[in-house]
Amino acid sequence: MFRDVSSCSTYNYGDALYWDARYVQEAGSFDWYQRYSALRPFVRKYIPTSSRVLMVGCGNALMSEDMVKDGYEDIMNIDISSVAIDMMRRKYEDIPQLKYMKMDVRDMSLFPDESFNSIIDKGTLDSLMCGTEAPVSATQMLGEVSRLLKPGGIYMLITYGDPKVRMVHLNRPGYCWKIELYIIPRPGFEKPGSYSSSMKSHLEPIPISDSGLLPADFVFEDPDSHFIYVCKKRTNESDLSNVPNCRISADIL
Ligand SMILES: C[S@@+](CC[C@H](N)C(=O)[O-])C[C@H]1O[C@@H](n2cnc3c(N)ncnc32)[C@H](O)[C@@H]1O
Repeated sequence: MFRDVSSCSTYNYGDALYWDARYVQEAGSFDWYQRYSALRPFVRKYIPTSSRVLMVGCGNALMSEDMVKDGYEDIMNIDISSVAIDMMRRKYEDIPQLKYMKMDVRDMSLFPDESFNSIIDKGTLDSLMCGTEAPVSATQMLGEVSRLLKPGGIYMLITYGDPKVRMVHLNRPGYCWKIELYIIPRPGFEKPGSYSSSMKSHLEPIPISDSGLLPADFVFEDPDSHFIYVCKKRTNESDLSNVPNCRISADIL
């Protein structure tokens, strides 16, 4: 269940050919980091079942299938790997709520602006961060994510990247997202006894500074925790005007 893309130097996770070769070998299904059952409280809190959802870098994960079983009505899944997309399209041909398209998250120009209420990313920005020209790829991807979200829409990023390394990308002035952070342990992580009574619920957001600093007294329950960034696209000019350093301009996207 738990695999991490932090070993970037070992595998080229940013390369489409790598993923095609991998999905040829692994024909079943696999969910990186977390299953839907663990993510459900966050998904249900922020994403209504009637939302038009975009799952970026879906791979062969069960996440979208599990969401449909939980009532989600419209999930567009994209991946750069044609092997994964062909496999998933065949598997779910009788499930009209699930659609699959081969697409690069850095160029989703086939979709018009503000096409989706919600975009879910489990491990895909992480993969790009392992590729060549990672900062450029991250900026291209997040610019597209911002463009495709409706005002008030949610980009939910599930990642191994802590705020020090992710906030610098998420907080670029062009997006102006309102960001909440949750931190959850790896599946199967066993708490040392001393934590059980003192730890706060994982369902409470953790305050973060714009530069990605966690509260000074924050203690990681699991040193290899996963991070859930809930990024909300602001709704209108007055919403934006309250935010210092928030500039919406095409040239900085
Ligand atoms: C770490 S896997 C995560 C798969 C799935 N989201 C999950 O949770 O199990 C990353 C996925 O991103 C896809 N990917 C990598 N670069 C991509 C890109 N530029 N555009 C679209 N998908 C990409 C890979 O093919 C792979 O399926």
